[in-house]
Amino acid sequence: MSETTTLAAPAASTRPDIREIGIIMNGVSGRMGYRQHLVRSILAIREQGGIELSDGTKVTVKPLLVGRSEGKLAEIAAQHGIEDYTTDLDAALADPRWEIYADFLVTKARASALRKAIAAGKTIYTEKPTAESVEEALELANLAAAAGVKTGVVHDKLYLPGLLKLRRLIDSGFFGRILSVRGEFGYWVFEGDWQPAQRPSWNYRTEDGGGIIVDMFPHWNYILENLFGGVKSVYAQAAVHIADRWDEKGEHYDATAEDAAYGVFELDGGVIAQINSSWTTRVDRDELVEFHVDGTHGSAVVGLFGAKIQHRNATPKPVWNPDLADEHDYDADWAAVPTNEVFQNGFRQQWEEFLESYVLETPYEYDLLAGARGVLLAEAGLASSREGRKVELPTLSLG
Ligand SMILES: NC(=O)c1ccc[n+]([C@@H]2O[C@H](COP(=O)([O-])OP(=O)(O)OC[C@H]3O[C@@H](n4cnc5c(N)ncnc54)[C@H](O)[C@@H]3O)[C@@H](O)[C@H]2O)c1
Repeated sequence: MSETTTLAAPAASTRPDIREIGIIMNGVSGRMGYRQHLVRSILAIREQGGIELSDGTKVTVKPLLVGRSEGKLAEIAAQHGIEDYTTDLDAALADPRWEIYADFLVTKARASALRKAIAAGKTIYTEKPTAESVEEALELANLAAAAGVKTGVVHDKLYLPGLLKLRRLIDSGFFGRILSVRGEFGYWVFEGDWQPAQRPSWNYRTEDGGGIIVDMFPHWNYILENLFGGVKSVYAQAAVHIADRWDEKGEHYDATAEDAAYGVFELDGGVIAQINSSWTTRVDRDELVEFHVDGTHGSAVVGLFGAKIQHRNATPKPVWNPDLADEHDYDADWAAVPTNEVFQNGFRQQWEEFLESYVLETPYEYDLLAGARGVLLAEAGLASSREGRKVELPTLSLG
């Protein structure tokens, strides 16, 4: 027996397993599919040599690009050294090399593709909203449960550094009892005539699955339910402030979908949230989204990255007097929350957690049922606006 044999055996047995997971990526030519999911998540994970799971298993990823235009797919594949691409989704779904089906299509095209992928037994990972109606979203969640496939829905905003700092503040008990949340989201999206619009034109057409409520309320739902309490009711006022827009080809179209929504949400536990969502406002904030949280013991203002706090002991005592100019510097009463850790891209962080949950077969909270709750809030928001009343939300469950 040679020395090398005795030495080689333990080394081989301690080497972690490397498992390559094939991922069908449908809609990689789109904004989200390309930048956030392909480049910043899957390719970044692959380039780093994969990820190591908590049990020591090493996992790498291999994308299969799927789309309608072979030319576009070939271009992306060549640019990033990707071997596999196809316009044939059915063939991709039939091929057992690809374990996960990931969907970044326009919202309107999503449900039918998800239905096929579930029927093919694939694990599902998808952008929000998961469907155009709550009925369909729930149907997809039920189909997946019946087929026994794991599902994940993008909850990216929970991974923003500002919101992670907010979670840290909540967990530390900083706020005392949380009273209310005020959210401001938005920026000016150009109409597309004298300057090209910076969002796709389908966003402004109801008939194509557009509208800021369908786009943003699913985000507000998971942020509210994961940080403050599940949404019990919504009152929303939607508005099409700008009815004339110009598309990607410079052609005029009628904007049929709301470009702003003003919402009030009652949460389990008594917190009241109000969130303005607007593509028709000019920014006078530090960041494109900000949440102001007031609690009995302290308040915070958090954005995508930043967070500042004011404790009850640092709270000034303003007295309302419109006859006197107020010299107090209110900005100076706030203290910045330090970062204290390295936050990576939120889409990638969630991908890594989903892959870990998939491989280790642990429960995954942000699933198609969570996605359906997001669609429910959007649908209830639209109904509220249409009918001019507060809408109570039912509890969604499978079955
Ligand atoms: N998580 C987030 O923060 C976030 C942000 C923006 C958009 N989104 C969601 O991501 C999805 C994609 O949005 P986007 O802004 O990237 O849109 P996009 O228009 O840039 O891309 C859409 C993709 O779908 C494909 N597509 C369009 N019509 C299709 C059809 N009929 N059949 C098959 N494929 C079709 C396009 O080729 C493209 O690849 C939407 O559901 C949107 O709600 C999520």
